[in-house]
Amino acid sequence: MKIAIIGASGYAGGDLIRLLLTHSSAEMSVVTSRKYAGKPIETVHPHLRGFTDLVFENPAPGEIDADVVFLAVPHTAAMTYARPLLDNGIRVIDLSADYRLPKEIFEKVYGVSHTDYFDAPYGIPELRREEYRNARFVSNPGCFPTGATLAAAPLARFAHTIIYDSKTGVSGAGDNPSATTHYPNVGDNINPYKWTSHRHLAEMRLELSRLGSGARCYFTPHLVPVNRGILTTAHILLNEPMEQEEVERRYRDYYKGEFFIRYQNPTLAAVRGSNFCDMKAESEGERVVVASAIDNLVKGASGQAIQNMNIICGFDERDGLKGAGLLP
Ligand SMILES: NC(=O)c1ccc[n+]([C@@H]2O[C@H](COP(=O)([O-])OP(=O)(O)OC[C@H]3O[C@@H](n4cnc5c(N)ncnc54)[C@H](OP(=O)(O)O)[C@@H]3O)[C@@H](O)[C@H]2O)c1
Repeated sequence: MKIAIIGASGYAGGDLIRLLLTHSSAEMSVVTSRKYAGKPIETVHPHLRGFTDLVFENPAPGEIDADVVFLAVPHTAAMTYARPLLDNGIRVIDLSADYRLPKEIFEKVYGVSHTDYFDAPYGIPELRREEYRNARFVSNPGCFPTGATLAAAPLARFAHTIIYDSKTGVSGAGDNPSATTHYPNVGDNINPYKWTSHRHLAEMRLELSRLGSGARCYFTPHLVPVNRGILTTAHILLNEPMEQEEVERRYRDYYKGEFFIRYQNPTLAAVRGSNFCDMKAESEGERVVVASAIDNLVKGASGQAIQNMNIICGFDERDGLKGAGLLP
């Protein structure tokens, strides 16, 4: 299986390479970067030196020779690649936001025109894998919506209000430095941002409605001084009280047999570098508090993308993703 990664010099692209090196059927044939074309990948990914002799290239979309392409590029860049790749019979997993929302909502939320829209399945495997097993294009969910939606899904239909409060590591912003991610602003500090208007809220609301939930949904993210990870606390306000025992039973039943979902105290360290989503729920009757932890670059991006490739290519879903977290 020949794999190409577009945007391979970025954080998500780097983690795709790291994880795919352990995949039993994947052979990376093309890794792209415009800035580093012609340079070996260890120029930006020194941790991968010795595992591969891949060199960054910058081919035109129509020149890419692969069976599967991962688009690990910013939103609006992915929409320039999707169609030419599909036209060449290549399967595509898009990590960007370009195909996660209906066109009108995308254009409103992201403030740009979509130049090449088509409907794509929203690839959150534990909730929807049966809907897209035969897909040739999968839109990978955003990092915050992954941890938040997985935390709320088992109770979503019984709730009238859901409030997500998330703490995220700095790699969520990609490798481009900014004042927000400048060390003195992040280190020894915690900042709320986009208090009521983060772009991922639209995705969260849409997915709740697809789960049959009429709950109002709110979301505030916070930047915390860690490199990787998202810890989300979901406050789920129920229509009717639910005792702890029933809540726990629902979570265990809902995710029964799901390798990547573990019902245990969530901590960032236990999932760091891995594709796991750890979660636990506590009921006080009408409010259930559920906390979930993921690695934003793995279950929130590259790992889930590989899980989606495994689904549409008929591989074991865990292939390339069997590593445990890096505790401590
Ligand atoms: N970071 C996360 O936690 C996370 C989580 C979920 C989803 N995502 C999504 O995954 C995508 C990649 O995120 P990231 O954090 O890895 O970003 P990043 O670190 O900024 O990397 C972006 C990559 O895309 C390339 N690129 C940028 N503009 C391009 C263009 N117009 N055409 C072709 N290549 C282009 C860059 O390399 P060159 O400039 O050298 O070409 C680089 O390799 C984004 O859509 C992001 O929203 C990220």
